[in-house]
Amino acid sequence: MRDLIDELFEYAESVSGPVPDYLREIERQTFLKTIAPQMMSGQLQGRLLSLLAKLVQPDRALEIGTFTAYATLCLAEGLATDGVLHTIEGDAERAAIAKRHISKSPYHRQIELHVGDAREILPQLPYDFDLVFLDGDKIGYPDYYQLLIERIRPGGLLIADNVLWDGKTPKKATGRVAERLGAYNELLRADPRVEVVVLPLRDGLSVARRR
Ligand SMILES: C[S@@+](CC[C@H](N)C(=O)[O-])C[C@H]1O[C@@H](n2cnc3c(N)ncnc32)[C@H](O)[C@@H]1O
Repeated sequence: MRDLIDELFEYAESVSGPVPDYLREIERQTFLKTIAPQMMSGQLQGRLLSLLAKLVQPDRALEIGTFTAYATLCLAEGLATDGVLHTIEGDAERAAIAKRHISKSPYHRQIELHVGDAREILPQLPYDFDLVFLDGDKIGYPDYYQLLIERIRPGGLLIADNVLWDGKTPKKATGRVAERLGAYNELLRADPRVEVVVLPLRDGLSVARRR
């Protein structure tokens, strides 16, 4: 079963695109130079993020968890002409790598990279957003939801990665992270302010639209 899923994933990746050359280079560098390259969104999810962003054309977007800026640059593809994407990275070394990747991209003028804990930086960003991508600390997702839901404009998207947590989220007593991700999924399901779909893509991608 796992083999079939991998095969279908590879096929889906091979017929999705196009992928800009600079993103292929970031993917290569992430595998060469970081110890956890699997944290990067990767090609298929990256194309989905790009497509969703292009549908929304955000004036203001937010990402929590920049890593090497792969998803950052996928999301940036959809920004409105004068749109700005704020991205927050808590680890200074990763932020330095992200900064280099962003500076070499066509979107360097539209991306603001913030270095520090998202919980401290968020209150310093007094904006509403058309698109938010949660991909930082998973334990924080329910708190980020409460902090951000009223700051997402009607019709805007709230996307969250890893919500199935390697299959552990739906099971009982599989650890603190799975428990918090389960709480996040449940919060959205029960909230009349959003409509939500959870895609079993990779580690689980939640896509919610603010009504
Ligand atoms: C899964 S990676 C992000 C991957 C990236 N969004 C992508 O798709 O290519 C998660 C990142 O979030 C950062 N992070 C974790 N907790 C954070 C926090 N509280 N504030 C800011 N960044 C955080 C980690 O250092 C890590 O680089």
